[in-house]
Amino acid sequence: MLRGSRLPLWPWVLLLLPPPPLAGALEPRGRARPEEAAEEPGSGRARPAFQDLQEQLRAAIALTRRYWALFTCRVWPETCGQDGKSPLAWSLPLLGQQYLDILTTWYCSFQDCCPSGDCRISNNLTGLQRDLSVRLHGQHLARELVLTTVRDYLALPRPDKALALSFHGWSGTGKNFVAQMLAENLYRDGLRSDCVKVFVTMLHFPHPRLVGLYKEQLLDQVRETQERCRQTLFVFDEAEKLHPALLEALGSHLERQAPENHRAESPRTIFLFLCNLGGSAVNQVVLELLRAGRPREEVTMEHVEPRLRAELAASPDSGFGRSRLVKENLIDLFVPFLPLEYRHVRLCARDAFLSRGLPHTEETLDEITGTMVYVPKEEPRFSAQGCKSIAQRISYFLP
Ligand SMILES: *[C@@H]1O[C@H](CO)[C@@H](O)[C@H](O)[C@H]1NC(C)=O
Repeated sequence: MLRGSRLPLWPWVLLLLPPPPLAGALEPRGRARPEEAAEEPGSGRARPAFQDLQEQLRAAIALTRRYWALFTCRVWPETCGQDGKSPLAWSLPLLGQQYLDILTTWYCSFQDCCPSGDCRISNNLTGLQRDLSVRLHGQHLARELVLTTVRDYLALPRPDKALALSFHGWSGTGKNFVAQMLAENLYRDGLRSDCVKVFVTMLHFPHPRLVGLYKEQLLDQVRETQERCRQTLFVFDEAEKLHPALLEALGSHLERQAPENHRAESPRTIFLFLCNLGGSAVNQVVLELLRAGRPREEVTMEHVEPRLRAELAASPDSGFGRSRLVKENLIDLFVPFLPLEYRHVRLCARDAFLSRGLPHTEETLDEITGTMVYVPKEEPRFSAQGCKSIAQRISYFLP
């Protein structure tokens, strides 16, 4: 990873120094400051016989102090100034930044150095709340349920069970979007994190005859990821198409663990199952309410959940509804994603322009929103594809 020949002197100087004890590093005047450590009399690195080397080291260490400040600031954010900035307002050249990244990753690979105890895990609930309320449209139930359930789960000191959520709704209503928001706010590297795994049924497990092999691979991947990270996220897209044997195999991961199985560091696992199944039941509930002249925000879990469960149980061609995940209540929460109306799709179109930094007019937004198909035929209310493909459609409307 480190390409030695091209490294300047300072990272090596830093590597030679003993890592500071955490308590020392938390104090600005901690005793393991690099310059003090290196200037200790009798230290093998600064013998009088090597005057030149000593001079060079001094120079390097002076530079290192600055890097050191930035490094400790990354690794122990508490040591930074009030405003979250480094004590030395000094911007690194790009190359220095890269070395700092390498060093931080290296250090954090064997040290607990972030508030979460692992720099890969960010658990930014403020960010999650913000994303759910600003970027997700028309989903008052999902917004509330996902935030509170995840927040409560992450607050448990010793969870005895993985958290399992299943998202139900038509395509384009935001199920993938919310899964992505969770990955981005709970993990520094989002969906690319080594703590996050996404499985798409038709992509990862396409052939029913290979299900034995898939099962082994799936369980291996789950285990390996859990060994690597003490907080993991597994996303199963197209969960309604998962083979019953795979669902069965996942069941053991969702069961409550006996207390003696608890590891000291209390690992946390979140499973998300994204399912188109159940979408019709959800849509029907919303449609009935709208027909009665009520706003969709009045839809509650009491309205939706029984109908959703009934649709899952009644679907003959999907293993999900009849798997032990559903039957034995291993799913902690069914999250309904409501069908989107014209005004929601319009917001998606606006977001698409804003996120690409492109100008737009109210007329353009209306035009794009108008290109979507709305159902049911006799009283078109819901976008058949939700907000799917809106981002691509804006290309046709650019000036
Ligand atoms: C959490 O997310 C918010 C909003 O996206 C962001 O402003 C903030 O910097 C994030 N906090 C951390 C610690 O990353």
